[in-house]
Amino acid sequence: MSTISWTEPRTATVRHARWHSESAAPAPRRVVVAVDRMRADTAHRLACEGTALLWQGDFPHARRLLEAVGRRIDRKPPRPGDSPIDSFHLHRRARGHRARVLGRLVVLLADDHALTLRRAPDVREACAAAYGPPRGGPVAVSLRELLGVIGAHEWRRKGVEVPALGGARVHPHYGVFSPVRGEYVDLVATAPLPVPVPRTAFDLGTGTGVLAAVLARRGFGRVTATDISPRALACARDNARRLGLAGRIEVTGPGLFPGGRADVVVCNPPWLPVRPSSALEQGVYDPGGTMLHAFLDGLASRLTPGGEGWLVLSDLAERLGLRSRGELLSAIEGAGLRVRGRIDTRPRHPRATDPGDPLHAARSRETTSLWRLAARR
Ligand SMILES: C[S@@+](CC[C@H](N)C(=O)[O-])C[C@H]1O[C@@H](n2cnc3c(N)ncnc32)[C@H](O)[C@@H]1O
Repeated sequence: MSTISWTEPRTATVRHARWHSESAAPAPRRVVVAVDRMRADTAHRLACEGTALLWQGDFPHARRLLEAVGRRIDRKPPRPGDSPIDSFHLHRRARGHRARVLGRLVVLLADDHALTLRRAPDVREACAAAYGPPRGGPVAVSLRELLGVIGAHEWRRKGVEVPALGGARVHPHYGVFSPVRGEYVDLVATAPLPVPVPRTAFDLGTGTGVLAAVLARRGFGRVTATDISPRALACARDNARRLGLAGRIEVTGPGLFPGGRADVVVCNPPWLPVRPSSALEQGVYDPGGTMLHAFLDGLASRLTPGGEGWLVLSDLAERLGLRSRGELLSAIEGAGLRVRGRIDTRPRHPRATDPGDPLHAARSRETTSLWRLAARR
């Protein structure tokens, strides 16, 4: 268990608290107490030097300080790279630096997850949803992470509307990939079914369970959904129940392939083959394309006769130089599969058209595809 220690300025007593970081940031070794009179320039300097600031002032003030430090970091944007892959890595490194520096503004959660700062919101429910029940004793977390936990809880409460489910809502849990990009969900909702009577489907890496729900609504009587993340498994079960589909969707795992075979095996792996910096990024980054290759390699033996694998993948990795089309095609062929068809669509999310995005050149030309794969028999 990692802890932080600091000296209370008024009493000169040394105190300790358990450290918790969802992004796997190490416990800060130097911690000073910060209150309302701390200036943003000082906070920025200390945080850049590696000192954590344990906030004991007013909560709204802490939020403003965090924003002010963020603006100071953003004054020095990363230089553009010489190639798309170079720009991607520089951009990722800059984001990592930003997260580390901002992560050094720290707050203390009490025994029951309460935040005892002046004018603080009640965060107990949000923290219990993200972290589980309190384990006793104070816990130090970064304010940035806590704001993420609060935002995620709001999202979970309100849900995300899914047009492909007739406007029904899916409720993402903290740390679970959210279907905010509707274009790939529409692909799964409209791709032609390979068998006249759809019976069984698998949804591998189900996240919120959105694609499993789409398949169940399309008439599959039995959909088995898996994921590597326990949070995703709980979330998918929750959504299947909320949507009244619990009788047709079985959520199982952690793992990739369930037992048996299916008429359609859907997989929407993380689209970029790079190492996630923590479990929180497991929905976005697939180290070395591990999940993609495991899906392709295991697919042929999991399909019923005439069945299809539906690989949902954007070509962003290709546009960034992280994977080539040739590599993808040879992985498909090497797995004993053939491409029966491909349905392409364009992303509709705001970043796709934002010229200020550091990866705009690649994103503006991105295509999302549903690859219809069959076993080469
Ligand atoms: C891009 S998200 C897709 C989520 C959901 N299917 C959707 O389309 O919204 C990828 C999912 O795969 C899961 N995942 C990543 N690696 C995995 C693995 N090796 N085995 C099973 N699931 C994995 C992640 O936890 C995440 O939920």
